[in-house]
Amino acid sequence: MTAVGIDAIEIWSGNLKLDLPETFASVKGEDPDKYRKGLGLEASSFPDVYEDIVTMGANASKRLMERKGLEPDDIGRIDVATESAFDHSKPVSTYIAGCLEQVFEDDFRHANKGERKFACVSGTQAVDDAYNWIRAGRNRDRAALVVATDTALYERGDPGEATQGAGAVAMLIDEDPDVLGLSDEQGFGSMDETDFLKPNQQFPSVDGKRSVQVYLSRMREALEDYESVAGRVYEEDFAYAPFHTPFPGMVRKAGLLAYRHITRNTDIEDQLAEEIGRQPREEEYDSHDEYEEAIREYMDALKGTERYRSWYADVIEPTLTISSQVGNWYTGSVHIARASALMTAADEDRNFEGESLLVASYGSGAQAEIHAETIQSGWKEEIEAIDIDQQLENRYDLTFEEYEQIHNVHDLDKDVEVDAFTQPEGEFAFTGWGRMNERKYEYVE
Ligand code: CAA
Repeated sequence: MTAVGIDAIEIWSGNLKLDLPETFASVKGEDPDKYRKGLGLEASSFPDVYEDIVTMGANASKRLMERKGLEPDDIGRIDVATESAFDHSKPVSTYIAGCLEQVFEDDFRHANKGERKFACVSGTQAVDDAYNWIRAGRNRDRAALVVATDTALYERGDPGEATQGAGAVAMLIDEDPDVLGLSDEQGFGSMDETDFLKPNQQFPSVDGKRSVQVYLSRMREALEDYESVAGRVYEEDFAYAPFHTPFPGMVRKAGLLAYRHITRNTDIEDQLAEEIGRQPREEEYDSHDEYEEAIREYMDALKGTERYRSWYADVIEPTLTISSQVGNWYTGSVHIARASALMTAADEDRNFEGESLLVASYGSGAQAEIHAETIQSGWKEEIEAIDIDQQLENRYDLTFEEYEQIHNVHDLDKDVEVDAFTQPEGEFAFTGWGRMNERKYEYVE
């Protein structure tokens, strides 16, 4: 069966940067190592005054379409995944299509457009929808454009403020893809949770500590569910494992949990037993609390072993490069984790066509999804075309006072006049509101 999956990826970062260990931590009176070592974050990306989820999504999409030599007629579906929508009715995909129609000759009149919502996992769900649409044979030889775009802001003073970020990932989903083929098998872990939500409000209500626990529980369930259809996952099965990355420290926790799971009842567990003992089994303990304590001790010991550290350095660490420089991009986050891994592979001139990735997405509220992806022959050329390093290098470095101003600019309850810190060039820009309170955009040469 012909593969269906990701044919191209483009990434667009907000044009501003906040240095977390230096600029943010020093004003907050915090140790910079909370960011560098604890959360694993160096900086956050922010949108400038003329940027938002539409401009970032449209910019990524324009580059992707131009690079692939596509016209609007080649696209049969545009789905946008976002947690930052500003309209309860008109989907962001229509705004993005409108932007693109300013620069392409034709229009997207016959494309099915929509918006997907389930916190950060909706980017992956939109990829899924596109996959199913193509597999069902309803695409008329056209590809799907999936855009995950977010401005992840928290209330000033919320602990989540440390993990903000803004950017977009555009992905072309097609038959016989150049980059990655998606597995039919998927696993889900999904429960009604109130860990992070935005009930008709711009900034999230977050129970930060609980959200971490819910992330780990749903991920474990999704992995078990995935194994129930795809067979057991072993250490050597996957070249990289990109996870949803609200901040790299979260993935450090998830990676450790995953490693304990995939090595249980294997030769690796036996080999590690000589150094740190075998994994605790619940039936060996008098109470659940004692078992939990034993698990914590085992995990602490596992974290320090050479075997685990080397697996983490090879399979997880390369997925965190972009995230550590941009913060949380919500719906785009797992997709920049995947791109980071592939960019590392390209830098290392790795020849890994046919190898697999285990991709683990997560959305608060809460749902985790896990599937596999297979590297296709054109991956390297596609990945080398992404210029995110250059974009990150070019960001304007905000002072703390400027950060406060830009947070106010993007706070929908505030009406402030702030001059842009950068000038738009070769990109879409927000230009103001129209007569029905719609947002207006123009392409700036
Ligand atoms: N040196 C080294 N490490 C340090 C340190 C120092 N000086 N100071 C602190 N640290 C470590 C802490 O030990 C901690 O690590 P561990 O969790 O491994 O112990 C880490 O740095 C963070 O420190 P705190 O726990 O003290 O940080 P906090 O309480 O201020 O906030 C947070 C952490 C709760 C995650 C907060 O950032 C938050 O609420 N974030 C938003 C919610 C979120 O991202 N949740 C993640 C799961 S939900 C999800 O994934 C969906 C989504 O995208 C939002």
